[in-house]
Order: sequence, then C-alpha cells, then structure tokens
Amino acid sequence: MYIKVPKGTQDVLPENISKWYYIEGIIKEILNKYGYKEIRTPFFEYTDLFVRGIGESTDIVTKEMFTFPDRKGRSLTLRPEGTAPVVRAYLENRMDRISKVVKLFYLGPMFRCEKPQAGRFRQFNQFGIEIIGTKSSAADAEVIITILEVYKKLGLKNIETAINSVGCKKCRTKYIQKLKKYLKNKKDFLCAECKERYIKNPLRVLDCKKDSCKKIIEEAPLITENLCQECELHFAEVKSYLNDQKIIFHEDPRLVRGLDYYTKTAFEIISGELGAQNAIGGGGRYDDLVEELGGKPTPAVGFAAGIERMIIAMDQQNIEWPLKEELVIFVATVNEKTQERAFRLLQKIRNTGLSADMDYSGGSLKSQMRIANKIGARYTVIVGEEELSKNMVILRNMKTKEQKEVKIDNIINELGLSGRRLSGGRFY
Ligand code: HAM
Repeated sequence: MYIKVPKGTQDVLPENISKWYYIEGIIKEILNKYGYKEIRTPFFEYTDLFVRGIGESTDIVTKEMFTFPDRKGRSLTLRPEGTAPVVRAYLENRMDRISKVVKLFYLGPMFRCEKPQAGRFRQFNQFGIEIIGTKSSAADAEVIITILEVYKKLGLKNIETAINSVGCKKCRTKYIQKLKKYLKNKKDFLCAECKERYIKNPLRVLDCKKDSCKKIIEEAPLITENLCQECELHFAEVKSYLNDQKIIFHEDPRLVRGLDYYTKTAFEIISGELGAQNAIGGGGRYDDLVEELGGKPTPAVGFAAGIERMIIAMDQQNIEWPLKEELVIFVATVNEKTQERAFRLLQKIRNTGLSADMDYSGGSLKSQMRIANKIGARYTVIVGEEELSKNMVILRNMKTKEQKEVKIDNIINELGLSGRRLSGGRFY
C-alpha cells in the first residue's frame, strides 16, 4: 500500500507545472507594473496572530486552522491567509519608515482544514496584494482593477464583481444593534449555525446560504443604508473610480466576508464556472488591523485570489495555455561506446545556453528517438561510432525528419541557434 497525499492536498505534476509558471508570470508582470513589491512570510506563525487578526469567532479561527504546539509548547498555526502575516511583517520590520504607503504582494500556499470539495482544498495557493498606509478610495479601486486585469490577461470570462461597504467601527456597531433587534424575534427560525452567529457575530448571518435564513435576511436592514457619512462618501468614491475605469460590478448590500478585519469596502469576485466554491478572489479595506496587531492606526486595503480556482475556471472555459518551450536538443547514442563522447557533447551544447538532454536508460536508438519525439525535441544529435571516427555526428531535424552529417566542432553553428537567441523566447 502506498501512502497517499493528505486529504485536501494535491501534487502539481510536471505536465501541469507550466500552467503555474504561466499564471505566476502574468501575476508578477502585472503587479510589477502597478508598483507592488513581493514579500515572503513564513508558512506558519504564532496562533495568536490569526486569532487576533482574523477574529475569534470566525469559521477560519474556530474550525479551520491547522494548529499545533512546537517542542516548547508554543502554539503555532499554518497560515490560513496572508493579510495578518503581511501586517505582522510590516510592523516587525518597521516598513512605515521606508515609505508612508507600502505596496506588497505575495504568492504561496495557505492552509485551511475545510471539508474538501471541488475547488476547495486544505492546502491551496493564493496571490494577494496589500496597500498599507492609505485611506484613499483610489487605493480600493486600484486593488479591484488590478485583480481584474490579471483575470483579463489570463483570458478568464464570465466573472462577476460584487462590492459592498461594511462600514467602520462606529457605524457598524450601531448597525449590528439594529440587525440584532431585527433578528431577535426571528432567531428560532435561523439555522443552528446562525443561532450561534446571532450571539457571537451577527453580521455573518447575512452570509448564510440556507433557504430558511435567506428568507429572513431578505427583509433585514441593510448596512449600506446605515453607513456614517464618511463611509458613505468613501463607498461612493470607490464606485466612481470604478465607473470611470469602465469596470463592471454590482453592489451586494448583503456581502460580508468571512474575516472580521474588514472595514468600509468589501468585495468578492465570482466565476460562473466554479459551482459552490465560486469565489476566485476577494478582499477589502481593513483600517483597524494594523492597530489591533500592535501598530499605530494605519489604514489598509487588499485582496487575495485562489490560484487553483483560477486554473479550474480557465480549464473549464477551454482557455488555451501557451505552449511551453520544450527541450530543444536531444543527444542519442548508437551504443555504449559512444556514450562518453555523447555526454561531453551534451554538456557542450548545454553550456551554450540551449536546453538539451539524453537518455540514460541504455535503450536502443529507436527507443531514444521515441523519447526525443515524446519530449518534443526540435533536433536530435545522433552520436554514431563511424561518424565519431571522422569527428562528425548526425543532426536530425525532428520536424522535417531531414538529417545530415555535421562536424562536431561546428554543431552549434549548424543548429543555427545560439543559446542567447533562444533564451530571448519565452520559457514558461
Ligand atoms: P478569502 O476570501 O478568505 O480572503 O480568500 C481569498 C481567495 O482564496 C478566495 O476567493 C478563494 O479563491 C481562495 N480560497 C479560499 N479558501 C480556499 C480553499 N479552501 N481552497 C481553494 N481556494 C480557497 C482572504 O484570504 C483575505 N486575506 C483576502 C484579503 C487580502 N483581504 C484583504 N487583503
């Protein structure tokens, strides 16, 4: 019996890795254009960071974290998201000293112990951006525009952007009281989970997908009708920036996100292809988080997107992945006697910068040619005994099947490809 991959995790096999390289390449290209700098934080942090950052009563903290003690009994947690760690790093490294507004991006695995289903994993990858140090509504708009540009560049269609404002501490506290009052005599009809949410985190009731709760929510007071003047103005500005850039979005006054740190703007991007797990990205403003994690009051906004979900949506939309550049040259030997010279030649070709390989399994020339075809080599250099005695090899164009004898010393010129010229192409 083989040991299997843990539940909710998956291998990215060599035949799929070029999809990841491609997506990561596009992400980095666009984020670079928008002025974001990459940050890499540890895969695990002290548990308290997430409890304080994401919120004690959220599903992530109560049910989904992979938490374990280290050898000295300190509680550690595999990061379920990237925002709290980025803010921790921002504070710990005094990034506010570098510039007033800091723009960071990250890309990497996150861990949530959720029930696995299509598009929902226990280890999944996110790319995300965080703009820390500004309350400007232009930053909120930029975040949304950036994520949409990534999706567009990847060719993703059929996506919807829902936005809302969840207010600030001031107006939200008042709104929650209003919401609780409304729910009070209806709470017996709420699902078991929402009964608990009613006590611990009433705002989350708005996010319930169960029919019984949905009906009740429909009539509930709306946060957008209870915003303070500042939040209302900020929300209007964000929408105005988006409209000005011809971004298509809709307002969803019941949109609340699964993390407690949001203030003002909250948004989610949904793909029509993904079924129940249809959020391919989401984010919003979190003006209190830096302070809650020990810093001085510092407004911030950001988003994160699930890369596996993007790949699933792209595959379902039959978006063509750009062909990756395969191996260029395959070196074949006719027998063991020519192996040493062939290996020397192989290294010589590689040293020019070209990608080249040979087969070490000791197979026949025929089987080596099959391998060369399978890996998509453009040329095969056949190292034969007789040719070697004349310092020659056979060069075979795998596409046209033409072959000719060429001088070993001349092989690079004969290929008509210098490493420099080739690497000018794109390797995903
Ligand atoms: P989130 O909505 O929890 O936000 O996650 C962002 C995205 O990660 C989701 O839209 C989804 O695409 C992907 N995702 C989440 N859970 C899973 C899962 N179990 N399997 C596969 N994909 C998943 C955040 O994480 C916030 N930190 C976003 C943010 C950044 N807000 C402000 N800045």
